[in-house]
Amino acid sequence: MNTIQTQVAIIGAGPSGLLLGQLLNKQGISNIIVERATGDYVLGRIRAGILETGFANLCREAGAGERMDAEGEVHQGFLVSIEGKETRIDLSDLTGGKAVMCYGQVEITRDLMDLRQAGDLPTYYESSNVEVSNPEGAKPGLSFEHNGESYQVECDFIAGCDGFHGVSRKSIPAEIITEHERVYPFGWLGVLSETPPVDDELIYCKHERGFALCSMRSQTRSRYYLQVPLTDKVEDWSDDAFWDELKKRIPPKAAERLVTGPSIEKSIAPLRSFVCEPMQYRNLFLVGDAAHIVPPTGAKGLNLAASDVDALSKVLQRFYETGDRSVLEKYSPMALARVWHGERFSWWMTNMLHQFPDLGVDGLDPETFDRFMRSQAEYYLGTEHGRRMIAEQYVGLPYSSLD
Ligand code: APR
Ligand code: PHB
Repeated sequence: MNTIQTQVAIIGAGPSGLLLGQLLNKQGISNIIVERATGDYVLGRIRAGILETGFANLCREAGAGERMDAEGEVHQGFLVSIEGKETRIDLSDLTGGKAVMCYGQVEITRDLMDLRQAGDLPTYYESSNVEVSNPEGAKPGLSFEHNGESYQVECDFIAGCDGFHGVSRKSIPAEIITEHERVYPFGWLGVLSETPPVDDELIYCKHERGFALCSMRSQTRSRYYLQVPLTDKVEDWSDDAFWDELKKRIPPKAAERLVTGPSIEKSIAPLRSFVCEPMQYRNLFLVGDAAHIVPPTGAKGLNLAASDVDALSKVLQRFYETGDRSVLEKYSPMALARVWHGERFSWWMTNMLHQFPDLGVDGLDPETFDRFMRSQAEYYLGTEHGRRMIAEQYVGLPYSSLD
């Protein structure tokens, strides 16, 4: 049995774990990361691509902002198309100059991985049988196996950055937590293609055939999504079928400009709103997808993970500076305050822009619900204060502070 001593044991080498590890290291707080997959597998997961101002700044603070600033694209607005009628949400004009960074999650994860490797920080990929022990005790523990060896970690704290299906949330006694969940009656079929984006900015499309989103990763790589029934399988969708359907849902001028090509990635993801409360159990802290999931309509998943990381790094830094354990109890309320705003905004955008095949919200029949949502879209898109409400949340509400 190999024994490791560290201050913070991080489970998961996704964006949450890697960013937290970098910020803690910068503060002189020792940490290790235990990851069940290979680095290549982590990088192979195609995920989001819109970074809030706060997240971009946190990456720069962690020392991982150089390539993002060189290759990422600053977006000062996005379009919403309602049955082909476009409205631009002018983020910068409506938020006093704020914007978002368009830069793939895979890329920022790669940058954080490279940074951690360059710092020779202990990271155990391909670990198995990861188990949390004694999270409520004075000395929590983490055990795992790696390269045929068994390890026991002695630490002060455990950060569960292990995603929705990880081990950390399951390590909290069921009677301690409350789980809030809404599973949506549809999924998103996503395609990645080496084709130029259809527009300079993202286009969110509400259409009677279903929601569509035109996004991008660079000027040569595009990301598109279609709302599809939960019963659809990715093999049901040829590339041609995908492009044909997309053209029907996006604005006519965009459809004319659309450059199609072979998909280099194609997958269907379910949509869910989920929050676990509280986000901590004494010395075990849940971060990112381990604690919450949002439908991707508001581009909040990665960004809420970032604000969790910001909150936890502040709390741990203050604890190690003062030795005052009471500051540790601030993490969950700090993180949840912002999580619930992101959850609501994502739920609100999802309701407004998607077609609900069955009973809508509040058991409304689809037609009535759809009329409510069209009225809501007309009001918020048609008024400056309505567009400002959307813009303020899209660029990201302020991060919580300790004091
Ligand atoms: N032991 C070790 N590692 C684990 C375990 C386990 N038992 N279970 C899961 N993991 C790893 C996964 O392999 C993954 O690499 O934890 C990592 C969790 O990463 P993410 O799922 O990406 O979660 P997070 O880092 O919080 O990032 C949230 O990723 O899923 C997207 O939409 C989400 O954009 C958001 C972001
Ligand atoms: C993406 O580019 O993958 C993306 C962008 C915005 C969203 C969701 C996904 O709201």
